[in-house]
Amino acid sequence: MSSHHTYEHKTYPVKAEIAQNAHINNEQYLALYQQSIEHPETFWAEQAETILDWQKPWEKVMDYDYTQGKISWFEGGKLNVSVNCLDRHLATRGEQMALLWEGDDPAQDKKMTYRELYQEVCQFANVLKAQGVKKGDRVCIYLPMIIEAAAIILACTRIGAVHSIVFGGFSAEALKDRINDSDCKLVVCADEGYRGGKIIPIKATVDKAIASCPCVQSVIVIKNTANPVAWNAERDVWYQQAMAEAAITCEPEWMDAEEPLFILYTSGSTGKPKGLLHTTGGYLLYAAMTHKYIFDYQDGEIYWCTADIGWITGHTYMIYGPLCNGATTLLFEGVPTYPDASRFWQVVDKHKVNIMYTAPTALRALMAQGDQYLENTDRSSLRVLGSVGEPINPEAWEWYYQQVGKENCPIVDTWWQTETGGILITPLPGATELKPSSATRPFFGVKPAILSNEGQVIDDGSEGVLVLERPWPGQARSIYGDHQRFIDTYFKSYPGYYFTGDGARCDERGYYWITGRVDDVINVSGHRMGTAEVESALDEHPLIAESAVVGYPHDIKGQGIYAFVTLHIGIEGNDALRKELVDLVRADIGPIASPDLIQWAQQLPKTRSGKIMRRILRKVAANEIDSLGDTSTLADPEVVEDIIKNRLNK
Ligand code: PRX
Repeated sequence: MSSHHTYEHKTYPVKAEIAQNAHINNEQYLALYQQSIEHPETFWAEQAETILDWQKPWEKVMDYDYTQGKISWFEGGKLNVSVNCLDRHLATRGEQMALLWEGDDPAQDKKMTYRELYQEVCQFANVLKAQGVKKGDRVCIYLPMIIEAAAIILACTRIGAVHSIVFGGFSAEALKDRINDSDCKLVVCADEGYRGGKIIPIKATVDKAIASCPCVQSVIVIKNTANPVAWNAERDVWYQQAMAEAAITCEPEWMDAEEPLFILYTSGSTGKPKGLLHTTGGYLLYAAMTHKYIFDYQDGEIYWCTADIGWITGHTYMIYGPLCNGATTLLFEGVPTYPDASRFWQVVDKHKVNIMYTAPTALRALMAQGDQYLENTDRSSLRVLGSVGEPINPEAWEWYYQQVGKENCPIVDTWWQTETGGILITPLPGATELKPSSATRPFFGVKPAILSNEGQVIDDGSEGVLVLERPWPGQARSIYGDHQRFIDTYFKSYPGYYFTGDGARCDERGYYWITGRVDDVINVSGHRMGTAEVESALDEHPLIAESAVVGYPHDIKGQGIYAFVTLHIGIEGNDALRKELVDLVRADIGPIASPDLIQWAQQLPKTRSGKIMRRILRKVAANEIDSLGDTSTLADPEVVEDIIKNRLNK
């Protein structure tokens, strides 16, 4: 990431043949963008009419008041998400593949047409109803990446149940908190999952979690590995058995555009994870429209997003956007490096993937293994490549472009967040001249700005905080159960704007360069994490007095987790204790939050008022000790010297 500047002025113009065949070329982008900003209501009304099927038209296109965190789109309009993703495709593409599924084991794959998926969705919707799930009830989904996941998600939308998907890598403790926070009535899980050749317990984790979840009435379990699992006959139901008894048609529940679609938990700089609430009409419109234009999806193409359903990317760009557009979407159960580092490219060749969307951390891991893993694959089906989740460093960008795409595929570096529902800043394949590491320009209707800490607009190209001036249809509407926190987190610091938590700058041609989080959120292998969550896990250990966690640059993960830990007086740190701490974090959050480095610190650097000076710890963790900045407010300068002397990243 250090060689940022060597690539700064490199540009990759749009090739003429790509511009000609794409949905949007540069002139069209400029004209449509202008229209979307000058006449947003006309623009979005036209899109909503073209892209979605409505049962009843809306009364008002858009309404908002950021001071109250109030945002609404297409209020009064009625639609059903599963109808838009399935029923309406049956006449024209019922026999087309909706889903391709590639197992962790390369010998395993499955397919499902739109008609088959439709039937599975209706059946499972009936199973949910039989379990007493009604419109508005919350359903927790805790699953490995099996093909049934898509049907389960869409079945919730068929009956207006609100799903809350929890990433299968989260621990029982983390799962419990999320189930209780949104008061889920039912959990859908599997017996076990496969990942990288290993078996991952799922049902056992659910059992452990819901021992402390009084809200959960039943658990539906998909038989996947078929190994024996503990069973509670009063509560647990086999998916396959229930499906065999379920009717194959189910009338859709017509939902108001502003009724909830799903809750998805994500980390903030303080406190426990927040359940972002997304609603029906605006979200679906934004998912479908961005999927179509940003990946330039053309009818009949094979599209592959490598994300997990447990993250927002899996929601918007693996399920909702592609299926709403009638695309063929590939679900992959495995990992990039199993059985070896050729796997991604073998999957591309096997399924003739045209569009691939993945994360920089995966690219860096594969790049580090060497180009020989590319050589025995052809990848000639690829047409567009996407990147998401964290800043892509120029080296990884160039490798993706030159080696993976053989200079034939535009790269869309897409910037967005769980809160934004869909991509906000991105190139369009047929329109945007590319610059490695720049997410380039805003999507239609999106109006970003860069502000100083004091809230002044910065327009000279220097770095500031990234904010958005007005709502877009995919924006989250609230934090489940805590609307005040929604207002306080996103709309208080810069009145009149949505605050993203990211830093950025905008260059002279209007290209955005995202520089990373400006708060205490870190991004580890594309997984978003609050340092406070890791600290509170560490602090549970009886020998620990205090801890401070920061991110530091990591070659593969983007950021690693660095913990500074102060033990109680008289206690000596050692490797056994380090291991206990790592285990504690894994049990509290999950393996993705394991600290990479744990440094014993006699004390943490604090201001005279007792506030931990994280800025200094970040510099020490990054081994940038020559630029500690102003240390005059430190209560005890010797503390920093001790910390520098014992630093672990040299
Ligand atoms: O810091 C930004 C980073 O990921 C954060 C959002 O994380 P999450 O809600 O988990 O969603 C990830 C998938 C959309 C952002 O605040 N981020 C995401 N995409 C990019 C990025 N940073 C730089 N460039 C990107 N393309």
